Amino acid sequence: MIQIAVMGYGTIGSGVVEVLEINRDSIARRAGEEIAVKYVLDLRDFPDDPIQKKIVHDYQEIVKDPQVRIVVETMGGVEPAYTFVRAMLQAGKHVTTSNKALVAEKGAELIALAREKNVNFMFEASVGGGIPIIRSLNSCLTADEVEEITGIVNGTTNYMLTRMSEEGMEFGDVLREAQAKGYAEKDPTADVKGYDACRKIAILTSLVCRQQVDFEDIHTEGITNISAVDIRYAKAMGRRIKLLAASRKVEDGYVALVAPCMLDASHPLYNVNDVFNAIFVHGNVLGDAMFYGSGAGKLPTASAVVADVVEMAKHLDVNIAVDWSLGKLELVDHRRLRSRFFVRTAADRDAVGQAFGTVEFVTVEGITDECGFLTQEMSGTEYEERAEKLGGILQMIRVQ
Ligand code: HSE
Repeated sequence: MIQIAVMGYGTIGSGVVEVLEINRDSIARRAGEEIAVKYVLDLRDFPDDPIQKKIVHDYQEIVKDPQVRIVVETMGGVEPAYTFVRAMLQAGKHVTTSNKALVAEKGAELIALAREKNVNFMFEASVGGGIPIIRSLNSCLTADEVEEITGIVNGTTNYMLTRMSEEGMEFGDVLREAQAKGYAEKDPTADVKGYDACRKIAILTSLVCRQQVDFEDIHTEGITNISAVDIRYAKAMGRRIKLLAASRKVEDGYVALVAPCMLDASHPLYNVNDVFNAIFVHGNVLGDAMFYGSGAGKLPTASAVVADVVEMAKHLDVNIAVDWSLGKLELVDHRRLRSRFFVRTAADRDAVGQAFGTVEFVTVEGITDECGFLTQEMSGTEYEERAEKLGGILQMIRVQ
């Protein structure tokens, strides 16, 4: 029997305990031994839950127990998760986490510490919930140079944009609805401002370029200024607005960006709706691949955490190499990326022509006091210069 501890008995932590129970026999077969939860660390008590007899409030109890070989971290946030995870690795325990904030900020360091201690630090659930993208990049795509990753990696915003598109709802109304249904947090800032997606693409890009990508360096735009009017324009063009987190290899490095984008029906991410996530990967020898599924939620995320537990149970005395070094990668300026741009302006068509040259005007029935248009393909720098010359910009959304 392999004894494990779970740190944090919230949605994901309780999901981990549940998954271990639901699939106890098949998990034991796959791991080679039964997996038993010995401790659950939480500040709270759960007097009406059988888990109470396993609750501890001091992480040192777990650190000091040599019977615990594997620790699950599902607390969220960088501290105290970082202190606890470090202590577990120092004590020679394997750790898996669903915590993207921790992985984005401390991933390289914790991977190095795990290597030093001949244990593993795994984080499959930190990106894409139940979608197996981390192990795919670390194990299945190691023959490739990954040249592009473009993902819808935030379920909350994808649900909101889907509802806005389907119902013509305004951002504020759809946010209230998403909160009422439990799809958006009470404080939705990290999701709607794109910070959550930013940390996830920082993790994926670090794995692809094998260096530390600091999430603070990634240009990030959320969906807070996407309006029902923007959605009407998108529909008039047969497009959908999606919050994309992307990174791309360019001649002299990597560019990463989180921003709402307009996709046409031929784009592989066009039909990824509601709370679903999907990650498109292009490798230089693989070509294209898509990973699609449940990107958030209790059991899907717990499924990925428990899969890490099984993987670690199979490698109790082996460190599985993860190529993500501490050396920081300086990203190339996102304004070098070329795309078309959808623009709404208070300026008139003549002024648009003078600033942007040939454009495609978009008309929406009932909208007459502004001008919407699609530019030719250009770099972000060129767009900014031309937009400044035009003035009166009401909205800009990149077009993929
Ligand atoms: N808030 C995140 C989302 C949870 O909506 O995708 C999963 O990381």
